[in-house]
Amino acid sequence: MLQVRLYFAPLEGVTDVHFRGIHARLFSDSPADAYFAPFFSPTADTPMAERDRRGLSRENNIGQAVIPQIMANKPEAFLLGARALSEMGYTEVNLNLGCPSGTVVSKNRGAGFLSDPDGMDRFFDAVFSDPLFSGGDGMHLSVKTRLGMFDPREFYDILPIYNRYPITEVILHPRVRRELYRGDVHTDMLLYTASNSVHPVCVNGDLFTVNDVRCTLKAFSDNGIIAPASFMFGRGAVSNPQLIGQARAMLMGKEVPPLSRDRLYAFFLALYHDAKNRLSGERHVLFRLKELFAYWIVLFDEADSYRRRLRKAETAAEFLSCAEELFALCPFCEDPGFFGNAKMNG
Ligand SMILES: Cc1cc2nc3c(=O)[nH]c(=O)nc-3n(C[C@H](O)[C@H](O)[C@H](O)COP(=O)(O)O)c2cc1C
Repeated sequence: MLQVRLYFAPLEGVTDVHFRGIHARLFSDSPADAYFAPFFSPTADTPMAERDRRGLSRENNIGQAVIPQIMANKPEAFLLGARALSEMGYTEVNLNLGCPSGTVVSKNRGAGFLSDPDGMDRFFDAVFSDPLFSGGDGMHLSVKTRLGMFDPREFYDILPIYNRYPITEVILHPRVRRELYRGDVHTDMLLYTASNSVHPVCVNGDLFTVNDVRCTLKAFSDNGIIAPASFMFGRGAVSNPQLIGQARAMLMGKEVPPLSRDRLYAFFLALYHDAKNRLSGERHVLFRLKELFAYWIVLFDEADSYRRRLRKAETAAEFLSCAEELFALCPFCEDPGFFGNAKMNG
């Protein structure tokens, strides 16, 4: 059996502490080896906001292996956040070098930092010179990166920087910032990275089905490249919360268990009740439900009229009754082979 780790990707606004907890509980037969938490941005005044501290506290994440993520381009700010994490007992932190959002990129953070390889070099030099990462404190750093801002070939200048530092893992989303989350991933650059990285490489991007994992493994073996250290699942694992378990079964040579409608329904209900109990105001509950359901609607055939009704629902009760009808009546295809990127909000 291949010793490959399987991760749940961070999705800001989706895979928060509540989502992760419910996923870990309801899919405990197929847990992620780690859940990467959405990023927080430390500053000199506030190394970690109270909301982020609650989301990352050990008592709120029982039963899950969580790896926190920081968004920063200044070593001082990064180290403040990393020190706060170390005090909470964390031993690994991930650096966000992929976020394509305009407000982030305009501040040279996330994917924006990739356009300044010299600045990145200075950043890593300062971070790995700090006793937190170079001494006995045992803090480790992984990166989650795109290929660049505009052109995949930018990565030829970026990978050598990662190679110079004791980074634990390079998680690659093989697109550039300009491509956001659309279009084909650059498999050629993924294979280049796997061949030329001195660090373990994690594959991320468009892994929506077990077959996508199989095809990636085949691309590696066809090119004589050793299998990746890990796979990270984002939209596909929100859409099909059993995807990580299915991928694990496939890797172990076992039969792949299909996602059942009942399990997805139980997952939906748990998230619905969590939102109802926790969020103040109908509008927030409805927004959360619509955001989540956009990932699930693709699993139902002949769901167009439900899609419209769910989108137009104005109360949580209206949304729930329409969703229950959908679960009861619409044909379910547990392996749609794509992610439809359906929009419910806006
Ligand atoms: C709504 C949304 C929020 C995201 N938030 C984060 C984040 O906080 N940190 C991060 O590194 N990546 C973030 N990502 C990127 C995902 O982690 C992942 O890299 C991306 O979705 C591609 O993987 P996939 O094709 O498996 O979904 C986000 C993506 C989406 C769609």
